Amino acid sequence: MTTAIVGVGNIGDALARDLVAGGEPVVLAAKDESHAEALADELGPLASAASVEDAIAGADVVVFAVWLDTIKELIAKDGRLLEDKVVVDPSNPLGFDESGQMIRTLPEGQSSGSVVAALLPAGAHYVKAFGTLGAAALARGAYREPRRAVLFYATDDDAAATTIERLIRAAGFEPLKAGGVADAGRIEAPGGDLHQGGGLNGEILDLDQARAAAAKPPA
Ligand SMILES: NC(=O)c1ccc[n+]([C@@H]2O[C@H](COP(=O)([O-])OP(=O)(O)OC[C@H]3O[C@@H](n4cnc5c(N)ncnc54)[C@H](OP(=O)(O)O)[C@@H]3O)[C@@H](O)[C@H]2O)c1
Repeated sequence: MTTAIVGVGNIGDALARDLVAGGEPVVLAAKDESHAEALADELGPLASAASVEDAIAGADVVVFAVWLDTIKELIAKDGRLLEDKVVVDPSNPLGFDESGQMIRTLPEGQSSGSVVAALLPAGAHYVKAFGTLGAAALARGAYREPRRAVLFYATDDDAAATTIERLIRAAGFEPLKAGGVADAGRIEAPGGDLHQGGGLNGEILDLDQARAAAAKPPA
């Protein structure tokens, strides 16, 4: 199975390192292809670089490690290529205003996951995942001892759930389903009660702690 990671910034870089460390092949793409090439060169034979279109076309799983507005643009352009693929969305409902300040780009209560899922072709297998920790924790938290750190995911799709559980384990974490797409906001920042940068106040949970947190109704 090949995973395309579109975007090699904070999240894409951390995820590519975690997956390659777990023996997973990755194809990397970015706006500037030289950024993807530089990371692929550093990561060795399991990693390669391609254009966005080629990376998506050749992969079984596509991770959109880019900002929400860019995900919307990429789906509008290359959405047809996502048919039958697992589409992994780590995005938050965030973007930047004209002065470069980070702002919420969706109304309160609307999740980025619900927006992305609705834009996909009917045959795509959507899952919200790999965005529930900050990038630094995603990079440093892999293979935590003695108890692995949890990465939450949200999906309505059984095939996507099976695939993301495998990839989360390969990346060195423990998977836990937070719910369906309707629950995606629980694992997004700002505000999600199960997001490290939201209700978890920076905490990184093990499986028992994560199960207890997920079982509590969000405030
Ligand atoms: N940072 C975090 O701690 C964190 C935590 C959880 C979730 N997230 C979410 O993860 C996503 C990525 O965040 P980030 O911090 O990793 O962003 P980032 O560091 O700004 O990286 C963005 C990446 O997107 C690429 N990109 C931009 N436009 C593109 C296009 N048209 N086609 C292909 N690639 C394009 C950029 O390519 P170039 O390298 O060529 O510029 C860059 O590699 C966001 O949705 C964010 O909400 C972030």
